[in-house]
Amino acid sequence: MSTLVVVGTQWGDEGKGKVVHYLSSQADYIVRYQGGNNAGHTIIFENKPFVLHLIPSGILFPHKKCLITNGVVIDPEGLASEAKLLKSKGLELEGRFFISESAHLILPYHRLLDEIRENGRIRIGTTRRGIGPAYADKVTRLGIRVVDYLEEKVFLDLLDSNLKEKAPLINNIMPVEKLRREILAAYPKLRNFIKPFVTNTVLLLEEANRKKKNILFESAQGTMLDLDFGTYPYVTSSNPISGGACVGAGIGPTKINAVLGVVKAYTTRVGEGPFPTELKDSVGEGLRETGQEYGATTGRPRRCGWFDAVVVRHAVRLSGIDHLILTKLDCLEGHTTLKICVAYKYKGKLIAEFPASRTIQAECTPVYEELPGFTGSIRGVTAFAKLPRNAQRYVKRIEKLVGAPIELISLGRKREETITVGKNHLWS
Ligand code: IMP
Repeated sequence: MSTLVVVGTQWGDEGKGKVVHYLSSQADYIVRYQGGNNAGHTIIFENKPFVLHLIPSGILFPHKKCLITNGVVIDPEGLASEAKLLKSKGLELEGRFFISESAHLILPYHRLLDEIRENGRIRIGTTRRGIGPAYADKVTRLGIRVVDYLEEKVFLDLLDSNLKEKAPLINNIMPVEKLRREILAAYPKLRNFIKPFVTNTVLLLEEANRKKKNILFESAQGTMLDLDFGTYPYVTSSNPISGGACVGAGIGPTKINAVLGVVKAYTTRVGEGPFPTELKDSVGEGLRETGQEYGATTGRPRRCGWFDAVVVRHAVRLSGIDHLILTKLDCLEGHTTLKICVAYKYKGKLIAEFPASRTIQAECTPVYEELPGFTGSIRGVTAFAKLPRNAQRYVKRIEKLVGAPIELISLGRKREETITVGKNHLWS
């Protein structure tokens, strides 16, 4: 029996989708504990890529149980369309997909508020899925939980108090009465759709633990988008770090056996905010094209840059990462020199660890170490020793700089395109 948490160590889009899918084959339960349908996990099913935003990709395995726990914000419309997509592929949710009754909902007014804020003074570059406004309501105790949605009278009362409070802003883009009518028109069908999946997921997980099942907690987004430890305010509104799994799923930290960090061989970011190793030149454009770095949720081009060891060291520390899984090493083929950022410089001073100051984050410059690059295709390589020597050196240098061993290397989207470096005792 094992309980693993998988986190992203950069700004999201590290390739967690493939990793979670890879690990899911041995999991009994796959659990989403934070975020919402802002995430986008691209997976290959029957040789075709498709994207899941909310439902864990473990659902593609017929006998796995998939949970969305209390820390997630759920858009009922988004969930319904994802369920429809899965159904069209012959994948049923009944009996193996569960939603926490305590999870908060994203309703159409959250999406509108996200839109209004994004068009305002501070632009975060959000996915405009209503994530921030839904979490804000949760914290200000105005939120509507799944359990509230199921009780019609409670829902209607809460809806009205929410709309009343938000009317001054919403009326600027649409009459609040019209919005209310639309929400009520969709309500009966969506409530009936959600109802069979709703349960106390804390008890389900406790039982799974008692029965010594393998449980995989999958994080969405990445450490640098963490509300507390990321590049605030250019972050998401939840905690993607491993500690988020405890609060977001209702399990004690003593129940977690290991934390795995997914790390891309270079760095990307979507949306606004500081990114010390960003490359605004042809090298950055090359990485974008080779790595097909376009947002899975919004289609936006991702900003690209060299590997930042300061960022990943921060992630290893914050999540207590035991093992790393390195992705997209193949996308670095053909560079004469590979650069790794080992520290930052600000006003002549060397900064070794990720700074909290937004001024320093925005104005610091990376201090690079240069390593020789590698040529020739490494796709299809299945043993670490068969990688070009310079690729091996790059991997080993990353391990040393960030302070965690690399257990797996992914060289493509397919399951077989994975090299085991360590003893692969991920599920013990
Ligand atoms: P929000 O989560 O939609 O509020 O967006 C906040 C920030 O997180 C923006 O910079 C988004 O681009 C970023 N973000 C949200 N979800 C993801 C993701 O799954 N991958 C990468 N970036 C994300």
